[in-house]
Amino acid sequence: MDWSKGKSQKNIMNELKETRKKDFTFSSSRILGSMCTAPHPLAQQAAALYMETNMGDPELFLGTKELEKRVLNMAADLLHAPPNYGGLFLSGGTESNLTALHIARSLSHKKEIIISQSAHFSLQKAASLLKLKLRIVPTQKYQMDVHKIANLVNDHTAGVMAVAGTTGLGIIDPIPDIANLCHEENLFFHVDAAFGGFIIPFLKKQGYPLPQFDFALPGVSSISLDPHKMGCSVIPSGLFFIREKKWFEAISVDTPYISAKKQASLSGTRPGASVAATYAVMRHLGQEGYIDMAKRCIDLTLYTKKVLQQSGFSLITDPPLNILGIQVSKPFQVSQKLLKKGWSISYNTQLHCLRLVIMPHIKKRLIDQFVTDLQDVIKC
Ligand SMILES: Cc1ncc(COP(=O)(O)O)c(C=O)c1O
Repeated sequence: MDWSKGKSQKNIMNELKETRKKDFTFSSSRILGSMCTAPHPLAQQAAALYMETNMGDPELFLGTKELEKRVLNMAADLLHAPPNYGGLFLSGGTESNLTALHIARSLSHKKEIIISQSAHFSLQKAASLLKLKLRIVPTQKYQMDVHKIANLVNDHTAGVMAVAGTTGLGIIDPIPDIANLCHEENLFFHVDAAFGGFIIPFLKKQGYPLPQFDFALPGVSSISLDPHKMGCSVIPSGLFFIREKKWFEAISVDTPYISAKKQASLSGTRPGASVAATYAVMRHLGQEGYIDMAKRCIDLTLYTKKVLQQSGFSLITDPPLNILGIQVSKPFQVSQKLLKKGWSISYNTQLHCLRLVIMPHIKKRLIDQFVTDLQDVIKC
């Protein structure tokens, strides 16, 4: 592309609007397989207001730094974090998992991490970067099998990671049992709640029988949760917490030329726009707003389950959260046919299923239409 000469702002905007038409949009309700959703309109406004701010140079942006502290405190409160907790606003679940593994390795000077078969693929990247060996625990009814964890613990174990809301099926690993084991064995234990962190606490507050997964369990060392998933903030937004702030020292480096003297985050420059957006949406919705949203998503998940079953489809398992695995024999081919009908849905070839994530942008009437299209696609 020849870009030696500039183009007018109007022309650029027209070009951008045209190109954008090729994208799926959350508002169409046709994105059925994403863990992200449309950012709340207030989050978008807040991000625009803070677009130039940089959390990597916090003394320049004291107001934004204050917002980061407020966001961390609100989320820490939700997770029952102890007074000495440490927190970072990061880019999402991948960076948080990498940070957790980095801390576990640096504190223990050991090289093996125990993870579940259904853990997110970001752990493979993290292990490769940090030269850690992943010891993979098979699942039992899609949950990490706690008895098999005990068999893998040895003198090289740097830590254990479990998931509260797996990417594939929204399964919550037996976190209280794993936390007990890690507490007894004095092992670092990271809970990946990238997806579940902004829904499980709110469902629990309404009395849903979901297990404890946070710092209320003494064995939990760190937790990640993503505002850009069920938090309805802008991309990129990730929150990472550790039980003891001083653990960050194990991975911090000196920063000779910027305002903060030490930095624990892997990213240097970090978007204050994401911080402002997350603060705005959390403060605006409040816990009550997230409770309503969580309930809407679960109700719609149960409705979807009912319609699917009435239409002759089977689910891989009962959905503990708002993710459904629909059994089909050729998931990839089915997803491609659905794409031609205008649906974006992901699939899982290991579990032989289509994967439906019932996010806040999904409308009930579109579910009916989707199930009819799915039936058509399976027939032909
Ligand atoms: C459980 C879990 N952990 C980590 C991640 C990675 O998050 P991100 O894509 O924001 O880096 C995901 C993404 O879907 C996830 O579901």
